[in-house]
Amino acid sequence: MTKQPKKAKAARRPAIYAAITGVHGYVPPDVLTNAELAQMVDTSDQWIVERTGIKERHILRGKGLGTSHMGAEAVRGLLKKTGTAPGDVDLLICATTTPDFVFPSTANLICDMVGIREVGSFDVQAACSGFIYALSIAAQFIETGTYRKVVVVGADKMSAIIDYTDRATCVLFGDGAGAVLIEPSRQYGIMDVIIASDGAGAKHLHQKAGGSRMPPTAETVAKRLHYVHQEGAAVYKWAVARMAEVATDLMKRNKLTSKTVDWLVPHQANKRIIEATAERMGLPLERVMVTINKFGNTTAATIPLCLWEYEGKLKRGDRLLLAAFGGGFTWGGIYMTWAYDPRSLQADQGAGEKQAKGATRRLAAKLAAILPFALSASFPASLLRRE
Ligand code: ACO
Repeated sequence: MTKQPKKAKAARRPAIYAAITGVHGYVPPDVLTNAELAQMVDTSDQWIVERTGIKERHILRGKGLGTSHMGAEAVRGLLKKTGTAPGDVDLLICATTTPDFVFPSTANLICDMVGIREVGSFDVQAACSGFIYALSIAAQFIETGTYRKVVVVGADKMSAIIDYTDRATCVLFGDGAGAVLIEPSRQYGIMDVIIASDGAGAKHLHQKAGGSRMPPTAETVAKRLHYVHQEGAAVYKWAVARMAEVATDLMKRNKLTSKTVDWLVPHQANKRIIEATAERMGLPLERVMVTINKFGNTTAATIPLCLWEYEGKLKRGDRLLLAAFGGGFTWGGIYMTWAYDPRSLQADQGAGEKQAKGATRRLAAKLAAILPFALSASFPASLLRRE
């Protein structure tokens, strides 16, 4: 067993919270079912469902379409839904393990595609924990008062690095993207964060070729070294232990109980890992967000896709516990309170004559979320509105 990483001993209490004030997702239209996979490799719908909980996953097909395509779709929807102009975004962070290119970053590409210009943008690579890492970075910029509107994207085109002759990995992954808007709030938002890693886990989960250690050659391609190498059983043990540990640590540090946590938002790698985490927390499955059945493991996108899928069930003040584990190894968790009542936003999604009303409702929902914050004398008013 490796040494425990150093962690902050106690929960943080920032004066200003970084709150999610909108979420949107995108999955490509093409669906790959278990039955189709069973035609490609020696597997069955029954094995996949029993061992992983996955029924189908979405795959991005189309020449020249990479992770940025899905990220841009998610961000476009997010900006529209929250009534945010591209010019109002101060920073965009993209968590991804499948960037379009080694450089420029996928965040740069997404900004260009959606019209966000001349602001900072960069990628974060922490495999399946990427979204938690990216969110924790975004929170610092909000909590310090540096920025007011930060977009965090989790996007992965896992189908680009999956070996569809390897039955142990190809059944697990799918493609997708999710994006959230982060804004300051006096009352709601990210309360506590844990991020951790152990590079000794690299041997169990990695991609051998394509990086600087083993650049691509005809030989690396012939040997199929540009795909995910995963020792499933070893990774599984670590994932179960660390996901549960990070979730229960956050509960202890924040004096939460199974009764006071409203939702577990777990990374979606395997339904059994999700259930084991919920069990350790004492949480019934009705309060666990699960999308793995239809999206599979979309790596950095699983958590924002969960928030997108369950947005309609959330209400302001709900206590959410996010937890993830992935390649690296990396793991992490976030305790946050939900900042808005999405039902008022969701009612706006019909187009046409409803749009004018929708904009008013969106504004009202936004104001309600930030009002206590706006009234705070200690927070610089300049941060609430672009000067
Ligand atoms: N269909 C049928 N049989 C299969 C399949 C399949 N798709 N895949 C593996 N098997 C077989 C194996 O060959 C093995 O057969 P054997 O006993 O004859 O050797 C048997 O099933 C059991 O294999 P295990 O690997 O022990 O199966 P397990 O129950 O552990 O499930 C799985 C495998 C789903 C991969 C699981 O180990 C897992 O979920 N691991 C963790 C994944 C994870 O959390 N990844 C981290 C995030 S990913 C990232 O960061 C990029």
